[in-house]
Amino acid sequence: MKHLLCLSDWTSDEILETLSMAEKLKYENKNGIRHNHLLKGKTLGMIFSKASTRTRVSFEVGMYQLGGYSLFLSANDIQLGRGETVADTAKTLSRYIDGIMIRTFKQSDVETLAQYGTVPVINGLTDSHHPCQVLADLQTVKEKKGKLKGLKMAYLGDGNNVANSLLIGCAKVGMHITVATPEGYSCDPDAIKKAQEAAAETGAKVVITTDPLEAVKDADAVYTDTWVSMGMEGEKEKRVPIFMPYQVNDELFSKSKPDAIFMHCLPAYRGFEVTDSVIDGSHSVVFDQAENRLHAQKAVLVKLMG
Ligand code: CP
Ligand code: NVA
Repeated sequence: MKHLLCLSDWTSDEILETLSMAEKLKYENKNGIRHNHLLKGKTLGMIFSKASTRTRVSFEVGMYQLGGYSLFLSANDIQLGRGETVADTAKTLSRYIDGIMIRTFKQSDVETLAQYGTVPVINGLTDSHHPCQVLADLQTVKEKKGKLKGLKMAYLGDGNNVANSLLIGCAKVGMHITVATPEGYSCDPDAIKKAQEAAAETGAKVVITTDPLEAVKDADAVYTDTWVSMGMEGEKEKRVPIFMPYQVNDELFSKSKPDAIFMHCLPAYRGFEVTDSVIDGSHSVVFDQAENRLHAQKAVLVKLMG
């Protein structure tokens, strides 16, 4: 059985095939071709321990378009929130449904769900990884630039879940990536290692730095995310001054390639990690990324549950 817990679990070919499938589903969907036979009669349970707009709506709409059904399960409203174990939840849900998508805190909970359940598990964001986001991001880069291999991605800000998955995803498809974070806020060492291992096979270059200028130099895509991820709200005051030099504003963005695209997984905190002028500017592709969550995840759902 196949899961999507972390992009490092998938081969480069699996990722590239999924992106091609996502592209095809998007094209067909826009041209009136329906996909409601692909997951006819299948049910996806969606466990959320954190807020969501994009992930929740895109998975729910995606399942509908594929002919399946989805259940929104707020962790606080199911027994998981009252102390039922992840393992027992996995075994129970596996008796009713054909797949589980989960957004939660610990990556290990997602792994436990996959270990004890008997249906595919999809990581809809943990503190450590956000693989679905990065599949949509890679689809977006490919659409805008026509290729992935050999391009340079710059990520600025917090070395968080999105940054970890972006490192691995870029390396897997042969895209160079430089991540610039303040000292002490770098990516997860394990994610860096996995990205370096993937890069050794694809020829991608993985650079970790504290220098925002080094990151944006010659970049084809400049990516940032919130400085205060869900669960870290208490650190906001401390973080803002530390992260300010990494803000993607007109001046910093102008140091990337003239045709660089600006990327953000959203939700954005305008005036912090990015200025209005950049996120609303002509180089911004943030709503294409949001849209591609739908198409990329439909490809994932078909691959795992079809
Ligand atoms: N990018 C993303 O995962 O958005 P949501 O938190 O709205 O799902
Ligand atoms: N890094 C952010 C991503 C939200 C989609 C968070 O974890 O809150």
